[in-house]
Amino acid sequence: MQGTEIDPRQFRDILGHSPTSVAAVTAINDAGNPIGMVVGTFTSVSLNPPLIGFLPDRGSSTFPLIRDAHSFCINILSAAQESVCRQMSARQGDRFKGIAWHPSPSGAPVIDGAVAWIDCVPETIFEAGDHFIFIGRVTDMAVTNPTFPLVFFQGGYGAFASKSMVIGAREGLAEQIRLADSAREEMEELANAVGAVCRLIAVEGDRQIVVASAGGEDRAPTSLVGVSMPMVPPLFGQLFNAWESPEAVDSWLKSSPVPVDGERRDGLLAQLESIRREGWMVGWADNHTSEAAAALDAMAMHGQTPRLEREIVEISAKIDGVDNLNPLVDDTAAANVKFMFAPIFDSAQHAQAGIMLVNLPEQPTLEYINAAKERLLASASSITRRSGGVSPASYPSVLGADATSTLQPTERL
Ligand SMILES: Cc1cc2nc3c(=O)[nH]c(=O)nc-3n(C[C@H](O)[C@H](O)[C@H](O)COP(=O)(O)O)c2cc1C
Repeated sequence: MQGTEIDPRQFRDILGHSPTSVAAVTAINDAGNPIGMVVGTFTSVSLNPPLIGFLPDRGSSTFPLIRDAHSFCINILSAAQESVCRQMSARQGDRFKGIAWHPSPSGAPVIDGAVAWIDCVPETIFEAGDHFIFIGRVTDMAVTNPTFPLVFFQGGYGAFASKSMVIGAREGLAEQIRLADSAREEMEELANAVGAVCRLIAVEGDRQIVVASAGGEDRAPTSLVGVSMPMVPPLFGQLFNAWESPEAVDSWLKSSPVPVDGERRDGLLAQLESIRREGWMVGWADNHTSEAAAALDAMAMHGQTPRLEREIVEISAKIDGVDNLNPLVDDTAAANVKFMFAPIFDSAQHAQAGIMLVNLPEQPTLEYINAAKERLLASASSITRRSGGVSPASYPSVLGADATSTLQPTERL
């Protein structure tokens, strides 16, 4: 294949599937000032002699200054140094503004907080297409902050974490796991009573995460447990924002990648109002919900990659705010219901989680939906109470124990 046949966008996109390290290469210029650039191409080259390399762009204005300096220093950036990375790769502005550093033994800048630094002198340079291959000889080095390095992958920044640490690294998840434990029995009973899958979805900062699932394993090809999604309006976060203050709702709406204003904003606010009034919400089967479901399944299968995150945000941006409860008047509307979602409140009356019924019977009747709704609301209230939460005074009161008998297993399908 000729080089010219390769589409540059596809080339970048496909190579973006390989993660790279993120290093800041620093030096002191002729005027005695610190200079630096970020490279994703830093690599070890040889052990004996100790050589490292990176691939500067021929168009780089900083690289010639590094090449001409008597020494340079590789700084392995830590996961907490994304802002340092952005500043050190920005085309405009002082790259060292506000960045604390001290000189390496050779005099090149060591950036405070970097995981490790490697002091080098220029060794050799090769030409390679529109880049150079630049090799340095290591003269000194140290690990100064033995923490997780910053990683660049598919156009996004992340951190390395060993697989066993992924859950442990999430702050506050213990609380959601405890909630899942106290909800387990109720969720099993609910799932059995309505013949569907019941998921517990909890808020974690500005994300929501599936923390438990009960019932109907045979009909759910992928378990979404462990998958977290950004709370981008309108697709994600509606239920949790229905009982929030106008300020909180406003900042949620502002997190949308496309402006939510005018009719779209009014539609969404009306939707929140209707969720608050009814005490629950439904999701309809349409192209967007099935696209979103497919993206979530892909996340469960392949992990939370930056690309799948972007896909979810883009799908959500395409959806308009529509009142999602009013049309629930007849069997035709009911047949289109894809999921049913009711809130679980914490002790401060925030909707901190919710239980969602999915994998409902094919084309459910209105009678089924109504009965499943009573059962869902009763279960959600019971989990709220059992976990020490308090429903807001405005929350619609739900049926008590007799809700359980509204839907007999024989009526399920
Ligand atoms: C994650 C990341 C990796 C980068 N990798 C390289 C690289 O390997 N080689 C390179 O020349 N520039 C790379 N750059 C771009 C440079 O940091 C910088 O933006 C570019 O050199 C333009 O600035 P300059 O003209 O001052 O060099 C990378 C930028 C980022 C954000």
